[in-house]
Amino acid sequence: MSSLLQVSNITKRFQGLVAVNDLSLTMEHRTIHALIGPNGAGKTTTINLITGVTPLTSGEVQLDGKTISGLPTFQVARSGIGRTFQNIKVFPSMTLLENVMVGGHEIAPMGILKGLFNMRGAQKEEKLLKDKAEQILDYIGMYKWKDELMENLPYGRQKISELARALMTGPKLILLDEPAAGLNPSERSELVKVIMKVYEDGTDFFLIEHNMDVIMKISSKITVLNFGSKIAEGTPKEIQNNDEVIKAYLGRKYQAQGRN
Ligand SMILES: Nc1ncnc2c1ncn2[C@@H]1O[C@H](COP(=O)(O)OP(=O)(O)O)[C@@H](O)[C@H]1O
Ligand SMILES: [Mg+2]
Repeated sequence: MSSLLQVSNITKRFQGLVAVNDLSLTMEHRTIHALIGPNGAGKTTTINLITGVTPLTSGEVQLDGKTISGLPTFQVARSGIGRTFQNIKVFPSMTLLENVMVGGHEIAPMGILKGLFNMRGAQKEEKLLKDKAEQILDYIGMYKWKDELMENLPYGRQKISELARALMTGPKLILLDEPAAGLNPSERSELVKVIMKVYEDGTDFFLIEHNMDVIMKISSKITVLNFGSKIAEGTPKEIQNNDEVIKAYLGRKYQAQGRN
């Protein structure tokens, strides 16, 4: 059986800058794979390359053995990849439910133009999206806030709702870009709970994160980037004790001795 995600020798050049340099990584089914490294290391660019937001300079990406690099973003989404963004992308004056529904439009069969000429079809589609969004909000424990305006929800809940939005397309893999950034400790543990629930129900995760407690708690495997290149890869324990990683990113604080 092929791996879930196979990233082969991907490179991204922005004019003179090599943001991602000949990166290869393999993500197996039923894992949570973390990508860590200092600011500017190329982590967000890697997610943008996998999802087709940014075209590759070279290399290839496969999902379940099928090449997805070169496909437009909506086709990457259709092939089974969902994502969230480093900077929160919500519509503040829309309700939580409406914000989650937006996620379904990424792969919904009916485009806006088509909807104009086929009102009944469009209404049916809206109803399906609404049912699905309500189901997902219930599933992650946010149903009671569905009619709240997004801007009235605490930041942590807004952020977790982006994961709900990503679930709208029924992905087998979700890419999260710094999901815990800006969250307080209780929101952080709520996030971890939601991720683990979704994971246990069959969706795998690839995540970028700076909060090492979150990373160490949930990831099966960690890849470390520095200046666009992979400098280490391994289990959380191996990474905590890797000298190069400690020097480039972690510092001594997260060394494993005495803190397992
Ligand atoms: N669209 C772009 N144009 C030019 N340079 C970019 C662009 N996007 C990212 N970069 C540069 O690529 C490098 C990697 O950025 P990024 O992937 O955002 O890093 P990270 O997410 O690890 O902090 C940085 O030096 C950044 O300034
Ligand atoms: Mg980033």
